[in-house]
Amino acid sequence: MEFPFNINHLFSERISVLDEVLVAGRKSVGRPDHQANIATVIDELGKASAKAQQLPASITSASKMQSQKHQLYLLKDGERNGGRGVLVGFLKVGYKKLFLLDQQGVHIEAEPLCVLDFYIAESLQRHGYGLELFDFMLQHKNLEPVMMAYDRPSPKFQSFLSKHYCLTQSVPQVNNFVVFEGFFLNRAAAQ
Ligand code: ACO
Repeated sequence: MEFPFNINHLFSERISVLDEVLVAGRKSVGRPDHQANIATVIDELGKASAKAQQLPASITSASKMQSQKHQLYLLKDGERNGGRGVLVGFLKVGYKKLFLLDQQGVHIEAEPLCVLDFYIAESLQRHGYGLELFDFMLQHKNLEPVMMAYDRPSPKFQSFLSKHYCLTQSVPQVNNFVVFEGFFLNRAAAQ
């Protein structure tokens, strides 16, 4: 995704991690122009993700990021667009208190890290960028994908989880979150 400003001035790293402060590294501290452009990037990516998932409204925006304790991983390709850079996609995660059913149908209260939104620009899908972003997040959080919960995963995302992480067998829930076999097993082992 291209923008009318230089992406490399906003994001120095290939993958940037943003929280509610919406600052990507020291470069943007005290630069309202940079912060406004970062907000534009997040809003546009959020809209594109909602469109791709046929959602009625964006679930990711700069204002939502500022009011929620979520983390956003943004992937850029700094060389495209004549060296001005493009945004390839993003992954949003956050902790949620959930009531889940284990394999025996027993209610369990847990607060796992959840994947809340995930989007790679249409023309760049199926090129391994999603995997690069997801693997970066797993390393950053020091987490196995089976320990996470997934908020309404789309068919493409389900296929992604199956292909890259062999996550196929989900445990039925009464909410929109999906967890996979191993979630409860590994939790018990960790306690
Ligand atoms: N159709 C079916 N499966 C797909 C598609 C597609 N069009 N695109 C990606 N995948 C899955 C497949 O398993 C694919 O492997 P294959 O090509 O061998 O079939 C695998 O992902 C490819 O892996 P990557 O290249 O690393 O994934 P990509 O960069 O495409 O990112 C993502 C995956 C984020 C799901 C991307 O396809 C996308 O943005 N889709 C549209 C938005 C979306 O559905 N986001 C998930 C929302 S649900 C949530 O966030 C909780």
